[in-house]
Amino acid sequence: MTAQSSKIVPPTPGNLAAAGRHIRAGRLVAFPTETVYGLGGDATNDRAVAAIFEAKGRPGFNPLIVHFPDRHAAAPVRFDARANTLAEAFWPGALTLVLPRREPCPISLLVSAGLETVAVRVPAHEVALRLLEEAGRPIAAPSANPSGAVSPTTAAHVAETLAERVAMILDGGRCAIGLESTVVDLSGPEPRLLRPGGVGREEIEAVIGPLRTPRPPQGRRAPVPSPGMLERHYAPRLPLRLDVDPASAQPRPGEALLAFGPNPPAGFAAMMNLSPAGDLGEAAANFFAMLRALDEPRFSGIAVMPIPEAGLGAAINDRLRRASAPRSVAREAEAGQIG
Ligand code: TXA
Ligand code: MG
Repeated sequence: MTAQSSKIVPPTPGNLAAAGRHIRAGRLVAFPTETVYGLGGDATNDRAVAAIFEAKGRPGFNPLIVHFPDRHAAAPVRFDARANTLAEAFWPGALTLVLPRREPCPISLLVSAGLETVAVRVPAHEVALRLLEEAGRPIAAPSANPSGAVSPTTAAHVAETLAERVAMILDGGRCAIGLESTVVDLSGPEPRLLRPGGVGREEIEAVIGPLRTPRPPQGRRAPVPSPGMLERHYAPRLPLRLDVDPASAQPRPGEALLAFGPNPPAGFAAMMNLSPAGDLGEAAANFFAMLRALDEPRFSGIAVMPIPEAGLGAAINDRLRRASAPRSVAREAEAGQIG
């Protein structure tokens, strides 16, 4: 048995209890769902969520789906009548609903990529449901594959690429659907189909009426693959000034500083440090919460110190560049992005 395959374990009561402890301790556990295998971490723990992005090697932060054991447990988001109807009709199952966060919301802002919404679903898989119960926490889980690779539908697929990154891979056999969940955005007045998936569009429309399809990405490499495209991303209201050199930084009047590393310059109207130790995982975990905290009308802008373009630093810089680009450019960049 190789070191990799030894991470694969059967979902015995003992292993499920251990997996729940791993999640509560902030470690990652790969688990089966009826759609694809998920790379799971505690959705309320910023560091665990940062570890998910790190393991996936995503160049940017895409918001993640949060899994709950039942509709009742999904209290951190607000259900309206449409959401209740869809949850009633399709949960547990391959339908993900994008719903407004209910503040104060225990779900990590990094899960939402800074947005006011969270994508939630109740998976129809015994092992996933038992893991959720053992963990006692909502579990954020993208498909358990490195960014850009094919989604895994067996435990062996997961072990091939992510064994080093997870505490455990729960083996639930082959996924019955083998295709990601359908993502429907209910955060606005009109329901929108963000990603086609395991539940058919017609089935959903039969329950709540027509779904709008967001404008597809223009230009670029067609055709667009299935992962949901996202028009909206959190962008601060205040202007961002990037790559502010700590040695020569001249604070502008009323400007706040988003710092990184041990020696932030003085003289700013306010300062928050993503990671005094210069740890990119810590910086990613703090990023959206600190950006929001500084995005206050009492400041004139936000200066940002340089972030190394390595590991999660690349994802932080990607988001900073989008947030500082003129709106039209940012929108175009979003349109080219895939989940
Ligand atoms: O079947 C599935 O959905 C699998 C299993 C593990 O549950 N999970 C999955 O997650 O495919 P992921 O992270 O690979 O895909 C999440 C999709 C992306 O297309 C993302 O853009 C969209 O959901 N999404 C997540 N949160 C969102 C939000 N707040 N607003 C809009 N779209 C969101
Ligand atoms: Mg995926």
